[in-house]
Amino acid sequence: MMVNNVPHTGSGLILGIESSCDETAAAVVERGTRQLSNVVASQIAIHSPYGGVVPELASREHLRAIVPVVDAALREARLTMGGAGFGLNSLDAIAVTEGPGLAGALLVGIGYAKALAYALSKPLIAVNHLEGHIHAVLLEHAASLPVTGPLLALVVSGGHTHLYLAEHHNHTWHYRNVGHTVDDAAGEAFDKVAKLLGLGYPGGPWIDHLATHGNPDAVPFSFAQIKPKVHRGGQRTSDAPFLFSFSGIKTAVLRYVETHAMAASIAARRQQITASTKPADALQLCDQQTLDLLASFQRAVVDDLRRKTFAAAEHYGAHGLLISGGVAANRELRSRFTRAAGERGLPIAFPALSLATDNAAMIAAAAWPKLLAGDFAPSSLSARASLPLGQ
Ligand code: KG4
Ligand code: ZN
Repeated sequence: MMVNNVPHTGSGLILGIESSCDETAAAVVERGTRQLSNVVASQIAIHSPYGGVVPELASREHLRAIVPVVDAALREARLTMGGAGFGLNSLDAIAVTEGPGLAGALLVGIGYAKALAYALSKPLIAVNHLEGHIHAVLLEHAASLPVTGPLLALVVSGGHTHLYLAEHHNHTWHYRNVGHTVDDAAGEAFDKVAKLLGLGYPGGPWIDHLATHGNPDAVPFSFAQIKPKVHRGGQRTSDAPFLFSFSGIKTAVLRYVETHAMAASIAARRQQITASTKPADALQLCDQQTLDLLASFQRAVVDDLRRKTFAAAEHYGAHGLLISGGVAANRELRSRFTRAAGERGLPIAFPALSLATDNAAMIAAAAWPKLLAGDFAPSSLSARASLPLGQ
């Protein structure tokens, strides 16, 4: 990646494009903070019958959606495609998700962004999807978070559960990965447990809704403490990562279902839930035992995320917390994290619900400091399915 420090004199308008998983998204953001448009075409209905994202279907749908979605984002921002790109010249750059994500899906956004940048003679900016999730929070809350010292970011979604120390100096954000999951992501656990119990896809919003009607203390779930390799003599060494694991709780839910003869009621619910059923309609399809199981599952996952996030914040002396990714939409997570932060006097910020799940405003926002730094992508930019963030 080329880096040259060029002072910025343009409009500050960046078109962001995101296609890493099952959402085709485009947005125009001014100077990393003001959303002029934020358009998301979700593929939920396509993948829902399979209970998870099917990579080939995702690429095909991105190909279908990319032109109308970018067009809608430009129109909403009043930068229409008219004629030979009239109006688009006020854009300063095109930003696109480089990875991590599904390679075929990423390539649709990257190919389109490259062509547009070339046609308009605008710089192309490559953005890490995980950095995008962090900027989904900074986009609206940068002013309310401390400007000095490290912030701790929990990125918790269907594909990721990561802890990063994020620090801003010399107009650039620097990241250090200090925690991750050793198996499933937290959102993946929500999706798998919802599928197991005959609920819709993605499972997070269903469980979020139904859990409020159950007893979170009904089923005692526990998380094994995973010892990082650099953990010596029972003491955490300064560079030992904070580790999460969510595959065990999914197996524990399965075992509970088997030992409590719940299979028949799950099969009946699966029959009754159609593509048009909403999480709010599912309450009447769930008995109290199911609601208690969901509430206990959600409480256990949220508590594990909370415990480790606050332990990491203390360990690294974080000055504030950023919580982002699809699971950051969860109401119990928001309220328990907010309470814990209040008790410790730590500033905490979450994205607006529209920015918690995948979107392109976060990609355009993350690209703004890169535009200021002249950190542009080469024309050979390609998808990087396992792109890491930070050291
Ligand atoms: O960030 P995102 O849109 O995509 C990825 O980068 O993975 O996150 C999607 C994930 C799914 O696993 C979904 O079930 C979860 O976020 N999710 C939630 C909620 N809304 C979405 N999980 C718990 N509670 C929610 N309200
Ligand atoms: Zn995401």
